[in-house]
Amino acid sequence: MLQLIRVLLFVGTIMQPLSAARPTVIAHRGASGYLPEHTLAAVAAAHAMNADFIEQDLVLTSDLHPIVLHDIYLDTVSDVRSKFPDRARNDGRFYAIDFTLAEIKTLRIGERIDHRTGRPAFPNRFPTENKPFTIPTFEEELQIIHGLNQTRHRTIGVYPEIKYPKWHRDQGKDISPIVLNSLARFGYTDANAPVYLQCFEQAELMRIRNELGCKLKIVQLMGKDKPGEQTYSKMLTDEGLHRVASYAQGIGPELKQVISGRRTDGKPQITSLVADAHRHQLLVHPYTFRVDQLPDYVDDWPTLIDWFVEAQIDGLFTDFPDRVRVIVGPSQ
Ligand code: G3P
Ligand code: CA
Repeated sequence: MLQLIRVLLFVGTIMQPLSAARPTVIAHRGASGYLPEHTLAAVAAAHAMNADFIEQDLVLTSDLHPIVLHDIYLDTVSDVRSKFPDRARNDGRFYAIDFTLAEIKTLRIGERIDHRTGRPAFPNRFPTENKPFTIPTFEEELQIIHGLNQTRHRTIGVYPEIKYPKWHRDQGKDISPIVLNSLARFGYTDANAPVYLQCFEQAELMRIRNELGCKLKIVQLMGKDKPGEQTYSKMLTDEGLHRVASYAQGIGPELKQVISGRRTDGKPQITSLVADAHRHQLLVHPYTFRVDQLPDYVDDWPTLIDWFVEAQIDGLFTDFPDRVRVIVGPSQ
């Protein structure tokens, strides 16, 4: 009997799909491929698609409420220009931090546009003329996720990103402690909580860990080097990753930092980043996987996902959680 069980277990192991590692599926701005980013509708859809985590980008209002909004500007997703025409700054932009929460709640939001041309950022997504949504506060979104976790008997986590903490401080506002307080009110306080806290700014993440005493899992986002700013390429060296591992559990690189192209034999050009990060016990969660915006080195979506699974990533940010699920399998 024992022998039979062993044989069945072995067969079960070899029958698993190629992508048996099952990367963590992070719904990027909710299920934003289907519904306007960061709306509660996009959050509910992401939950129904069984993402493992749902992402929130966070900025502050003038009266210090964290709201779920990707940009520091309101004009890329809302009707602020017509509702508050005289509230732009000299650069012509409308900043969330110049508006109270009550004012922001009067805005209707919809699909992202390019603010210079007025054209949709993603032409085949939700119609930009339809704006039936409002901007949620961080706590409203946490309430929705908690409620759905209860009714759907799941523990889908949250993946908040603190946006531009240095810029917020220059505006006289300290966003990080406010975000940590909101998380604590919902019981997200320790390393086992289903939350990853992410930010691009290394100095802020080190402050969050070392000065603000945050015990949550932290992910260091990596982007393109910009002159006069922190250099991500330095962070990606062995010494740099060693430093990141002193305060973070993972990194969030761009797709190109993990797979840089296609080799002449048609196989993926996998960089050493995942192996390097794993040597430092850092998880790797690259961004952003979009069915309607494939990197130029792949022809189709399944190949993209398979290549990154082959590269041994631990998770991925996607606007299309359901389209990842069908390839990588159900959540664990
Ligand atoms: O947070 C991961 C990814 O979302 C970073 O880029 O600009 O979409 O916030 P962004
Ligand atoms: Ca983000």
